[in-house]
Amino acid sequence: MDVMEAMRSRHSVRAYLDRPIEEAKAGVLREAITEINRISGLHIQLILNEPLAFSSRLAHYGSFRGCTNYFAIAAPDGFDEAAGYYGEQLVLLAQQLGLNTCWVALTYDKRKVPVICAPGEKLQIVIALGYGETQGTPHKSKPMDTLCRVRGEMPDWFRKGMEAAMLAPTAINQQAFRLILDGNTVTAKALLGPFAKMDLGIVKYHFELGVGTDHFSWA
Ligand SMILES: Cc1cc2nc3c(=O)[nH]c(=O)nc-3n(C[C@H](O)[C@H](O)[C@H](O)COP(=O)(O)O)c2cc1C
Repeated sequence: MDVMEAMRSRHSVRAYLDRPIEEAKAGVLREAITEINRISGLHIQLILNEPLAFSSRLAHYGSFRGCTNYFAIAAPDGFDEAAGYYGEQLVLLAQQLGLNTCWVALTYDKRKVPVICAPGEKLQIVIALGYGETQGTPHKSKPMDTLCRVRGEMPDWFRKGMEAAMLAPTAINQQAFRLILDGNTVTAKALLGPFAKMDLGIVKYHFELGVGTDHFSWA
């Protein structure tokens, strides 16, 4: 599965099978994490076979079942956009490996996560991971024209980027972002909303994948 197929087939999954992640797949994920941590300022950790974070009443209330694996993203405050941008790379890589995921900011027990934080870092968010009971379902999206501003006719490359951006997971599916095209420059704005800056990082990664290379630069 290429990364575009992964993007189209990814949906949040909250119920997981009791099936361990193979060591070979865990190895691929760890390698990607090492490279991301090297370049991003994030401190992402892969946590396997840990049932407590998703055993709380909050997690059940949030419809989580059987989740014992997750990525924990530790970082200093102010790294929200990077967490979204690089975390989504791991989400799509996991999807390519046949695994399912769900970004989780609230509906888990933070205190149970055995994350290692360097001074100044804290656990910002986790991403549930594993073999889903199902593949999830596509989210409803706001119409494209409410999510972007384009003067004149929309170029084809920008439309492709927008289509990819609309597939991005966002907190409570809020899609609180605007992508504004001016010449070959795209401005990405987070609107008001919980975790909107993290969402923006996810959206920007999807947009870049949708466009491909060379058509634009970020403002
Ligand atoms: C930053 C962020 C935080 C999220 N937090 C939670 C959460 O606490 N609990 C939950 O069940 N889903 C959470 N989600 C998943 C969203 O509800 C989901 O991505 C959105 O409804 C779109 O659906 P999709 O991922 O299936 O496309 C979060 C998503 C993002 C991007």
